[in-house]
Amino acid sequence: MLDALWERRALLVSGKGGVGKTTLAAALARAAVAAGKRVLLAEVEVGSDEQDSPSTLGALVGAPRVSGPQVQDVSPGLSFVRLSAIEGQRLFLRDVLPLRVMAEAAMRTRALRRFLEAAPALREMGVLYQMLHFVHRTRPDGSPLYPLCILDLPATGHALAIAALPDTLLSVMPGGPVGRSVREGLALLRDPRLTGALLATLPEPLPVSETLELATAIQRHRIPIAAGVLNRMPDNPFSPDGRAAVKRLLDEHGPHLGQRAMERLDRAREAQARLAGNLPAPLLTVPELPGSGPELVERLATYLTRSTVHPAATPQGARAGVPS
Ligand SMILES: Nc1ncnc2c1ncn2[C@@H]1O[C@H](COP(=O)(O)OP(=O)(O)OP(=O)(O)O)[C@@H](O)[C@H]1O
Ligand SMILES: [Mg+2]
Repeated sequence: MLDALWERRALLVSGKGGVGKTTLAAALARAAVAAGKRVLLAEVEVGSDEQDSPSTLGALVGAPRVSGPQVQDVSPGLSFVRLSAIEGQRLFLRDVLPLRVMAEAAMRTRALRRFLEAAPALREMGVLYQMLHFVHRTRPDGSPLYPLCILDLPATGHALAIAALPDTLLSVMPGGPVGRSVREGLALLRDPRLTGALLATLPEPLPVSETLELATAIQRHRIPIAAGVLNRMPDNPFSPDGRAAVKRLLDEHGPHLGQRAMERLDRAREAQARLAGNLPAPLLTVPELPGSGPELVERLATYLTRSTVHPAATPQGARAGVPS
């Protein structure tokens, strides 16, 4: 079971372009809800002009289209929000500046806005600050409003920028309330009981190499890795006899229909073995499934509710391991 994943407060889904982060984030959220969690599924807005563009992630879980930073309740147990750097920075200033009206005024100052948008670390800080705001929200009885936040990060660069924040910020943060709230957030980010990165990849040589590099970089910043997710693992259509028969045909008659499938499968298995052997975290393998959009998400969620995470092969990973 994936219960150990659902026990965390924040899961950061990361990986190279097109590996399935958004699809996996949506499916993980559905699976967590099926396991009884209340989940906030969050998407990071890439630019300040994106608020009105349609949300891919929102569409996958049936979130009604709205603009702005409001949380939308999508279905029982599942809420959706778009995190924006600007909104996060506004919150940050509101918490930091004594008066709300000053924060609003500060954010309206075009020069300040441009400065905040231009500095990448500050953009990530805005995103992170907004996420922490949701993580810390409580219900009237004091329990977390969103026990689990799943964050779909748009690109590897964002994951690294977020991972680098503690080092960047702590070096410039003053003491007092600002420093305190930032330190609190950073502590959450580095606590393996509370936060975990999910590194998604495809079962091909290059993506696996890049994922191992990402893992090293993220670990250097002491951000815990919850698991690797090997996505779109091809089905194995070959029985041992069938495989031998295809191989004989290929040897005797040259290229054959089964050849590409067989080669792809072999590459995928090699990639899986390399990832399992070198990733300092447990590995979750997710199959290539038919369909697209919300239908695919539903299928993947059903698959995930029955899945287990295989413990890491390396000692490091075993320490951070997700017991199945
Ligand atoms: N397990 C799967 N089986 C079949 N198709 C999948 C699977 N996972 C993802 N896909 C498909 O792969 C494509 C890319 O997925 P997705 O948009 O989630 O990737 P992404 O990593 O979020 O991309 P981007 O970096 O552009 O945000 C989509 O067409 C999606 O339907
Ligand atoms: Mg995406």
